Amino acid sequence: MLELLTYEPFGEFLPEEKEYIREILSGNDNPPPSLAKFHELFSGFYDYYVQCEKFEDAKKFEDAKKAKDAKKFEDAKKAKDAELSRYISKLRAWKAKNGRAQLPIFYKKICFYLMVKEGFSESGFMVQIGSHVSRIREWKISPEFRKRAEDDTYSVIRSYRSGTKRKYLVSLIKRLYYEAGRQVSQSMVLNKLPPFVDVFAGTASVAASVVTDGCPPPIVNDYDPVMICFAWAFTYYQSKLCAGIAEFHNDLMKKDPQSANWSYDEKAYEAHYESVDQRTVLTLPKVWDDPMTQWLHMEFYGYSKEDIEEGRRLAQRHQELVIRARNGYIGVRNVLDRLEGSDDAKNCLRSIDFNKLPKNMSDPQNAPVLMDVLDYALAMFFYYSFPPLSGHIYHEVIVDACSYFLYLSSLQVDELKDVKKKDQAVKADTLLGRQLKASSLTLESTGSFSRHLKDAEFYCKDFRDILQNNSEAERVYYLDSPYFLTVGYDVGFSDDDHKDMLDLLRKAEFKWIFSMQYYPSKTDASTTSQDENNRKKQPHIIRDYGAYYRGFYLPLTLDTDQRAYMPKDDPNDPKPVPSNLFAILFDVDTAKAKGQDIYRYTREILLVNFNPLRTIPLHNSAVVLPFDLFLQCADAGMNYRDIVLKAIDWRRDYIEKNFAGKIPV
Ligand SMILES: C[S@@+](CC[C@H](N)C(=O)[O-])C[C@H]1O[C@@H](n2cnc3c(N)ncnc32)[C@H](O)[C@@H]1O
Repeated sequence: MLELLTYEPFGEFLPEEKEYIREILSGNDNPPPSLAKFHELFSGFYDYYVQCEKFEDAKKFEDAKKAKDAKKFEDAKKAKDAELSRYISKLRAWKAKNGRAQLPIFYKKICFYLMVKEGFSESGFMVQIGSHVSRIREWKISPEFRKRAEDDTYSVIRSYRSGTKRKYLVSLIKRLYYEAGRQVSQSMVLNKLPPFVDVFAGTASVAASVVTDGCPPPIVNDYDPVMICFAWAFTYYQSKLCAGIAEFHNDLMKKDPQSANWSYDEKAYEAHYESVDQRTVLTLPKVWDDPMTQWLHMEFYGYSKEDIEEGRRLAQRHQELVIRARNGYIGVRNVLDRLEGSDDAKNCLRSIDFNKLPKNMSDPQNAPVLMDVLDYALAMFFYYSFPPLSGHIYHEVIVDACSYFLYLSSLQVDELKDVKKKDQAVKADTLLGRQLKASSLTLESTGSFSRHLKDAEFYCKDFRDILQNNSEAERVYYLDSPYFLTVGYDVGFSDDDHKDMLDLLRKAEFKWIFSMQYYPSKTDASTTSQDENNRKKQPHIIRDYGAYYRGFYLPLTLDTDQRAYMPKDDPNDPKPVPSNLFAILFDVDTAKAKGQDIYRYTREILLVNFNPLRTIPLHNSAVVLPFDLFLQCADAGMNYRDIVLKAIDWRRDYIEKNFAGKIPV
């Protein structure tokens, strides 16, 4: 019942409806006969809901494809569908009996819920309950809009760059965008949504995922020009990029090591195994020359002389692949480092008007600027195609036969299927001999990156330029800035930058969605010592998370004594926390139960300056707290999980008190 109440439409309940809801909420499953009409309406819904829960549970095993689980899934689906059709007949009969003059809000909520959850078309559903589709307009609901907001449109170009947002987070941002947009445009029509501005877009996966067909095109911005080269090139020049990837691999595998002047050689390869007992490293060619190794293999594993030879050959091939791939990686890193080290080169890239570059040139060689953009896009793609070491370290050692194999397999080189389960030396042998064809590569394994961004505007500006000069109320801004107390990005972001950003958000007329990590208010140190050292070199600091959170509604002023920006408030007349600020956290247990791929110890939170309740129902994997309550929790030093529990309690109370009927629309 509580969850149902968080669904549209919102408005005043009829007095009897209220009475019935109160009975149910107070735990009375057998309300008085005077309310039988509502009980008839609700009881079947509850039975259906129970089957849905069981189905959700079984769905988690769907991928396992184990016969037992598949059967469980099929049975749960059948049971749910049977309950659903029983209930829809009931709805139809209920309406026929009670007439449509006074259809209660409760009834409309049920209809909305079913249409959204079961994916019914508006007309298809209304026919089934004996109504005309035009009623939907009178009820002021748009299940289509909600379904579009909830559709899975996650679109990313695969990358191990830290900061790339995961699906569970992006799908929430999408819903929030739709909701903010609905509030701005007062409309539930997709093309009337205000444009989405991804201010710190990075790999642009958020913009590409939330702005789908039918929405106005987004604005994609990042101050790091390589990011915009990447996003732009993967939007318009995928086939050229495929050609570049194939050429790079083919050249790398053919190159003559003598003339290549590579810095990573056999010695570096061997040195890599210095700390381990080398006799156990069968990918070191010299190990196969060791009489002991040979004897052991012959005696215990039945190796013949030819097998020993083959072992040595594979080790040689492994060594060769690793040397080639790591040198390729080093070469790419040098390209990116050279750019990183030259402000002139970066500014030159920044000055490109990406929106005027040709989008479909068959021969980009004739346009040097375009070639630069494509080359940087490729470099960035290759560099972040290998999972970093912990601490987000990207070093040539992360490239080995297995990670190189995964990189190529992710480009869906079908022919590699056969060696998927083979050991690294066999993989290396296969990869060395593989010449790639551009036409067999696919860059988009998840979603429709280029389709969603094809009309986007691309900028390479500082966030101040975007927010100050383009801060129209008719846009929704998403901000995934480098995190406070975290300095590990190519483009530095100081406490002063954070302060400027908070100043702009505090005064904003527009709606924004802000990503950050939760730490208790008193936290004032970075999580890594490297970040902490870098930060200490900065002139001024925002004292701690408590000050940071307050920056969303209080000016931060420089306290010279403390060398810190402090939130400025009048102790005699403290400013109330604005009621339009909300914090959103993730209920990891619910997210896991819904099969979402979420990190158990996530600290991700979203802050928004509009009421998001309508798009985040109870029992969702996201939970909401008004910002003043969130601050109390952070000030009390509560941990993430406890705040989530507090948010769930708060929401229950809120629904019970308001019946969720008065959410502003
Ligand atoms: C957390 S990452 C964003 C990741 C992005 N959401 C994604 O999915 O890839 C932060 C980004 O902010 C960019 N950035 C840093 N300083 C900036 C500034 N002053 N203005 C605009 N962007 C900036 C960085 O280059 C970085 O890509």
